Amino acid sequence: MIDIFLISSSAERAPHIVARLDESGVVYRLRIAYCTLRQLRMHARAIRSADLLIVDDVDLSARDLDGAEETLACSPVLHCMLVTPAPSTALLTAAMRVGVRDVLSWPLEAGKIGAALTHIAAKKNAENAGGRRAGRLVSLVSSKGGSGTTLIAVNLAYSLASLRNSRVLLIDLSQQFGDASLLIADKPPPATLADLCSQIDHLDAGLLDACVMRVHANLDVLAGAGDPLKAAEVQPAQLEQILWLVRERYDAVLIDIGQSLNPLTIRALDRSDAICMVVRQNLLYLHGGRRMLDIFRELGYPSGKVRVVVNQYDKNAAVNLPTLEQTLGAKVAHQLPRDEKRVNEALNRGVPLVISAHDSGLAQGICLLADMLWPAPVEPRKGMLGRLFAARPNAPPQLKPGH
Ligand SMILES: Nc1ncnc2c1ncn2[C@@H]1O[C@H](COP(=O)(O)OP(=O)(O)O)[C@@H](O)[C@H]1O
Ligand SMILES: [Mg+2]
Repeated sequence: MIDIFLISSSAERAPHIVARLDESGVVYRLRIAYCTLRQLRMHARAIRSADLLIVDDVDLSARDLDGAEETLACSPVLHCMLVTPAPSTALLTAAMRVGVRDVLSWPLEAGKIGAALTHIAAKKNAENAGGRRAGRLVSLVSSKGGSGTTLIAVNLAYSLASLRNSRVLLIDLSQQFGDASLLIADKPPPATLADLCSQIDHLDAGLLDACVMRVHANLDVLAGAGDPLKAAEVQPAQLEQILWLVRERYDAVLIDIGQSLNPLTIRALDRSDAICMVVRQNLLYLHGGRRMLDIFRELGYPSGKVRVVVNQYDKNAAVNLPTLEQTLGAKVAHQLPRDEKRVNEALNRGVPLVISAHDSGLAQGICLLADMLWPAPVEPRKGMLGRLFAARPNAPPQLKPGH
């Protein structure tokens, strides 16, 4: 049985939504509040125990959605669905940012809402039966600072959280100044990895939840120590315990390793399912990158575990792809273009590039990289907005796959 909370601004439309729910054949429990999304906060407690939140609000604005972000972020596994007649692109973008999974047009098609209900029920059954997730862990590493590791990690995390129905954790292990959380949130984290390790004897799901920062309905960040001395106190065995727990709690786990190879980061790399090594077309990156790949071979990592990604790719650079592959002794798996304008705009707005400039080549390249590192389950995929807005007849053009 799935637990549904319906917020409806219309006593006339609500019965139609209930009729569509009935047609789905899925067993559910329903609570209804007749109000608008602005009053969401009043129902925060009820929402926390729900599996599905349906918001039926004809006058919904992007600003209303922004106001709902905090309440929604407290319920990371909640599936949120909007029913609204003619959403603007601004509304769809805001919906995606706060973690809304579906935007359905009015009048509702039975098939659309039924498919979502079936999906939620199946997911809940699987979780109840197994109780565990099996998060795929990918580390991002570079031989030299400034390669773009943190930028790519943050945007990969965001794209996985907003485009896939999966829970994502980003761990900042870069050990210097813990900058991943700065890129992704405008508030300080409740705790850092070092804080969590200092209480490792009490480690459980509750402690982990209290230490991570919720930056999106589906995305948590375990912040870096922000202080190299504190970071140095983190022990490999403590990290191992944390990784064991987070794999059960998340579908995708990303570790921003940064540049240092030491016993702690090597433990993270050992436990990773894949390693994404970020390089640039410059001799200094290549020299370090070659050395790093040699170390990975000495550590016994199979070559398929390591994916080389060229960031800020320039087809006219003196170090071209064949030279780069020859020097590294490894194939380049993916290239990401340089886009200073979009990167800086995203930084200034405090919105990840995959959201603020989702149609740019860089954002699309990062989404393709996400597909490569976390191969999607076999299901038909749609563009970002198309996936959100499943049923509008004149939907805005969908994102093109490819660069
Ligand atoms: N593809 C790109 N296009 C433009 N600027 C980029 C790109 N990738 C990274 N940058 C910028 O390069 C700088 C270094 O990136 P960062 O992610 O901090 O690197 P690292 O974590 O490897 O030290 C940042 O200012 C970042 O915004
Ligand atoms: Mg970094």
